Amino acid sequence: MAKPSSVFFCQSCGAQSPKWIGRCPSCGEWNTYIEEIIQRGSSKNKSPLHQRQILSVPVRVAEIQSGKESRINTLDQELNRVLGGGLVTGSLVLVGGEPGIGKSTLMLQIALNLRNIKVLYITGEESEQQIKMRSDRINTKDQNCFILAETLTQNIFQQIEQLEPALVIVDSIQTLHTDLIDSSAGSISQIRECASEFQKYAKLTNVPVILIGHITKDGTLAGPKILEHMVDTVLQFEGERNYGYRILRCIKNRFGSTSELGIYEMQNSGLREIANPSEILLSHRDENLSGVAISAMVEGLRPMMIETQALVGSAAYGTPQRSSTGFDSRRLNMLLAVLEKRSGFKLGMKDVFLNIAGGLHVDDTAIDLAVICAVLSSNEDIPVDQNICFAGEVGLSGEIRSVNRIEQRIAEAAKLGFEQIFISKYNLKNITSDKYNIRLIPVAKVEEVFKKLFG
Ligand code: TYD
Ligand code: MG
Repeated sequence: MAKPSSVFFCQSCGAQSPKWIGRCPSCGEWNTYIEEIIQRGSSKNKSPLHQRQILSVPVRVAEIQSGKESRINTLDQELNRVLGGGLVTGSLVLVGGEPGIGKSTLMLQIALNLRNIKVLYITGEESEQQIKMRSDRINTKDQNCFILAETLTQNIFQQIEQLEPALVIVDSIQTLHTDLIDSSAGSISQIRECASEFQKYAKLTNVPVILIGHITKDGTLAGPKILEHMVDTVLQFEGERNYGYRILRCIKNRFGSTSELGIYEMQNSGLREIANPSEILLSHRDENLSGVAISAMVEGLRPMMIETQALVGSAAYGTPQRSSTGFDSRRLNMLLAVLEKRSGFKLGMKDVFLNIAGGLHVDDTAIDLAVICAVLSSNEDIPVDQNICFAGEVGLSGEIRSVNRIEQRIAEAAKLGFEQIFISKYNLKNITSDKYNIRLIPVAKVEEVFKKLFG
């Protein structure tokens, strides 16, 4: 039997050290090192997987067969889109998210919907009865989905060998433990070892494995920077708890782009896919309100219309407050500075609050133009007409810069019945024809926008 050795692991980034240290030299966090006893078991009690050996020999690139990777259609259009067209066979996918956001619901729903293939859902967190209750809520019949409540990987692989599923889902990686290592479940060395067993399994058998992982307080995957390196795809499930909307984002993808986004709504009967996000992101008002401007933004390859709301008021205590939800607050400050300098609006003594509707976080700079229009509309208390929308980036000298995918934005706005869209003058040359049923209003400077909007 190998001698047990003890190693200290940083619980935040997974770095290791032979002795305790107060501050992690790798991630800079304080007091995160915890001792873990590592005892490598003898090869006898290794899982059957470990005994299978494949002998690799070097091959020329030219001699490697280039097959198109085969993908499993998950029957969930949002998930398919985020994965880049379906689940690649033999891939290892990590789904992260805060507790209670709906990871288990999403994965169970996918498992239940896949009727043509055998799915094994391994749960270390909930009992079979709890899963049954959840599946009754989701309410899908005739499934080919097996539940296994087990946390020891050796037992899990035994069951997998018998069942031979075509997809394995593990809820969650933090609850698993392996015999090969002596430290407790959820510790860095356990997580790393369990994940690597599933990685080997996926590569050997070509069965895709989805691992669910928890997220720490500060929003990173618990423990596991190491996990991110190991897996092929990292998905993040997020959303404001108070809103019903959930967003599935791709952070890393070896088989597709990372810019795609899936949107769901949490309902009583599970998660509903939202194929047309603009409809939920726009509030349907009867009258015009001041402080609201609508932007045509693009997330991934998908255009959507989103409402930006601003509230400008006199600063009660001298120091003005600037606060934004769903939009970078430094960018808001920059836009306010541009407004102040270029247009002479005195916002210096005003509180400014900015909110992006629907609990979405927007990184697309094309929303700038809508932001400044919402701020000014609230400041002047003049509403922006509901049938107008915006797509343009604002530069430091107050110029309206062109944005990418302008045709898609215009098409989306036209589809939703907007009558006018303000775009950068410099975008005009990229637009091929007058095929859209919407009036394009090219602008070059912020002053021009205000003149056209507020007269
Ligand atoms: P869950 O999938 O357990 O979250 P996670 O696995 O990420 O911790 O989601 C639980 C939440 O979702 C819970 O607060 C209740 C809610 N929910 C619904 O609103 N409708 C449903 O049909 C289900 C199954 C859950
Ligand atoms: Mg769960």
